[in-house]
Amino acid sequence: MKEAGIGILGFGTIGQGVARILTQRANVIQLRNGRPFTLEKIYCRNFQDKDLKGLPVEYFTNNPKELLNADNIDTVVELIGGTEIAYSLVQQALQNGKNVVTANKALIATHGEELLVLANEKKVKLLFEASVAGSIPILRILREHFCAGEILKITGILNGTCNYLLSELEKGGSTFEQVLKEAQRLGYAEADSSFDTEGYDAAQKLSILASCAFGIRLPDWKEIPRSGISELLLDDFVFAERIGKRIRLLGKAEMTEHGLFAGVHPRLVGANSEIGKVVGAENMLFIEDEFESPLRLSGSGAGSLPTAMSVLADLGECARGKDSSPFFSFHRRKECVFAPRNQIKKEAYVRIQIQDQVGIVARVADAFAKKNISLLGIFHNQSHTTIAFLLYEAPITDIEEAVEIISHFDFVVGKPLLLSVES
Ligand code: HSE
Repeated sequence: MKEAGIGILGFGTIGQGVARILTQRANVIQLRNGRPFTLEKIYCRNFQDKDLKGLPVEYFTNNPKELLNADNIDTVVELIGGTEIAYSLVQQALQNGKNVVTANKALIATHGEELLVLANEKKVKLLFEASVAGSIPILRILREHFCAGEILKITGILNGTCNYLLSELEKGGSTFEQVLKEAQRLGYAEADSSFDTEGYDAAQKLSILASCAFGIRLPDWKEIPRSGISELLLDDFVFAERIGKRIRLLGKAEMTEHGLFAGVHPRLVGANSEIGKVVGAENMLFIEDEFESPLRLSGSGAGSLPTAMSVLADLGECARGKDSSPFFSFHRRKECVFAPRNQIKKEAYVRIQIQDQVGIVARVADAFAKKNISLLGIFHNQSHTTIAFLLYEAPITDIEEAVEIISHFDFVVGKPLLLSVES
């Protein structure tokens, strides 16, 4: 029985998890996949200075060519991250006829089309289950389970770090910086944590999801409307609680007759809703299809071993030599067309920081009234430095225009916050 030779590029949080499972669970892996997996080499820059987590030094090399040119390696696992070195090494691995498994959403969301073409030409696999939603096997479910009808909508929590931050901050007593530091210590956050907190990471994942779910070319993730969580104030969490809501960073992708609606934003969700109850680094996804068989999936969205499990699942698929589904036969996918945003109507929450003076509520209410938007509620903090408005459902573009006008009022300090409110 031919062994599946594996090389790992990168020995960070996920690389360590994959190496640990490969070396400690060889028997189970062989039993489940019908072939032994052999970890042959790990590329890690300056490994001499690193904690090798008890692995023999012979596994390690400073030279990626020792993996890319090795005859005994048929699958390369890319866990370096980013779009520079990782891009060139993945290209070379595919060129050399090796399967590639990666957890790198930035790479797939940016260069996926081209890399999939190359993998197809070379008749090898390029699998990236671990790039979206950590341990949740969402891409496998999209291409294997939903093989008979159209998927209409995917909604979910796609970033473990943000969910950890939000659910810790709503408890009170900690600052953003303290909680972020802990998320980094736990191995949830990206090397540049602004990728998490500004929603870029979730936008890249949403682009991959939308492509796989709707059979379209990868949407340009930079064009997906996006906002992050770093501008939230502790007052926002207090106001949310007063109306029975919590703040969660949600990604949404919906295929409509006008094209693709997609967005990544913090939103107010019911505190007792399923999504509102998701805490820590967990991710949750809702998939709606034409046959009304909605699916809800949840699991660890970040962290070493949970993400490594998704890598292992892809390695199993490579080792078993199963054909990949047509979802990944990119050349048959349709172009991605974004739908115009003026179709979207939302209830919304608008919060401003103010220098208190007479007439603030009247002027803000007037700005909303001029756009035909009604107020549902008003809150302010004890020191009257923060005031928030709850709005009836209205076209999101009208709300944005009213907020833009309000942002220029002389009593407004800093940038207003606009969150949509989920029913
Ligand atoms: N930084 C990412 C997150 C890791 O927090 O979700 C998993 O992709």
